[in-house]
Amino acid sequence: VKQIFLRSLLNLASDMQKDTTVWRNARIATCDATMTVFDPGAIVSREGLIIWVGAEQDLPQEFKQPAVINEDLQQRWLTPALIDCHTHLIYAGNRADEFAARLQGASYAQIAQRGGGINSTVRATRAASEQQLFDLSVPRLQSLLAEGVGCIEIKSGYGLNFETEAKMLRVARRLAASFPVTIKTTFLGAHAVPPEYQNQTDQYLQQVAFDWLPRLHDAGLVDAVDIFCESIAFNLQHADLLFEQAQKRNIPIKMHAEQLTNLGGSKLAARYRALSCDHLEYTTAEDVVALAGAGTVAVLLPVAFYCLAEKQLPPIAALRSHGVPMAVASDSNPGSAPGASLLLALNMGCRFFGLHAAEVLAGATRHAARALGEQEQRGSLSVGRCADFAVWNIQSLDEIGYWSGFNPCHGLIRAGRWVSRSNSHANTH
Ligand code: NIG
Ligand code: FE
Repeated sequence: VKQIFLRSLLNLASDMQKDTTVWRNARIATCDATMTVFDPGAIVSREGLIIWVGAEQDLPQEFKQPAVINEDLQQRWLTPALIDCHTHLIYAGNRADEFAARLQGASYAQIAQRGGGINSTVRATRAASEQQLFDLSVPRLQSLLAEGVGCIEIKSGYGLNFETEAKMLRVARRLAASFPVTIKTTFLGAHAVPPEYQNQTDQYLQQVAFDWLPRLHDAGLVDAVDIFCESIAFNLQHADLLFEQAQKRNIPIKMHAEQLTNLGGSKLAARYRALSCDHLEYTTAEDVVALAGAGTVAVLLPVAFYCLAEKQLPPIAALRSHGVPMAVASDSNPGSAPGASLLLALNMGCRFFGLHAAEVLAGATRHAARALGEQEQRGSLSVGRCADFAVWNIQSLDEIGYWSGFNPCHGLIRAGRWVSRSNSHANTH
């Protein structure tokens, strides 16, 4: 009897450790508000979540028994899986012809006004089947995953009719079901005015706000809403009207604001307590005060700044001094940011915008999570958050924003399991 009792006690103990993994001998950057580092550190995952994190020497005894899976990370750095909080990843075709035209002096706005730009990608995206659109998006998604990205936002906005907007959002949901990644969808029907509504911007916006938004939201395809508030797109009144409808349904709000001109977009976004306000090159110090008061995240998109050869810098010093959380994202899209590299965006955020190494790390983790309303689930390492980690072959955290065109990511862990891992050696010396 005694033996049976003992055995069942042991079984119970090992049952309790089922699916428990200790990731040890790591240099851990928690990316929480204090940017705490544990070096050497350990982190314990169970059933997809973090159940312990700290200095390796403080690892509790219960995680040292044989039933616990032991993963030696060989002194590699471990961060939360990165988050790309602003992408237009799903589209057909490309706009290399417009890039060539811009090299000869045409501007982004001029190209848009003569029917190219976003509407050129709309034509290609409408013509693509759902399967084609999915297949075209896969390599771009894979490029982000290889960089340790575990969560991305994807906007619609190349359909601009109900069917194609729905098609894009369904592709986003299918990507999430097919790859080890969390995807947050954003409905961007208000990206441009499609040709069938030429000179009827008000009517188009009403269609988007009163008809498509509720229907797509009811279909479970919409996690947030966005609008391109710009001289070549929609004005402040349009944004106000759209946000009012979103607010009625509790749909989180995001905004493309002040990329080319200042229409007062970020002040309006702040009034609606938007999750994020994105681009912000033409944002004023006064706008920054409004963002700070609303707790809205400033999403910086240096790849678009670079590709459009923009000269106006976002007000980084004001954002910093007012404590506005700054995220950095790839803006992956065929017009202003062709490509799919968050690490390049971080590097450009450092070099062009003067962000510090620690700022871009927080900008692709904790603050990016907040830009998606995901801060309780991901973006930092603490008990209860997802066990989604990026593992790096780097010697210092400064390397996250340092490399341009080189990827030092060793592997990605999702829900406490490896999803990819290179066979390269740890680069600790
Ligand atoms: O974030 N500015 C609006 N949207 C995109 C560009 C989209 C496009 O050119 O296709 C951006 O830069
Ligand atoms: Fe964008």
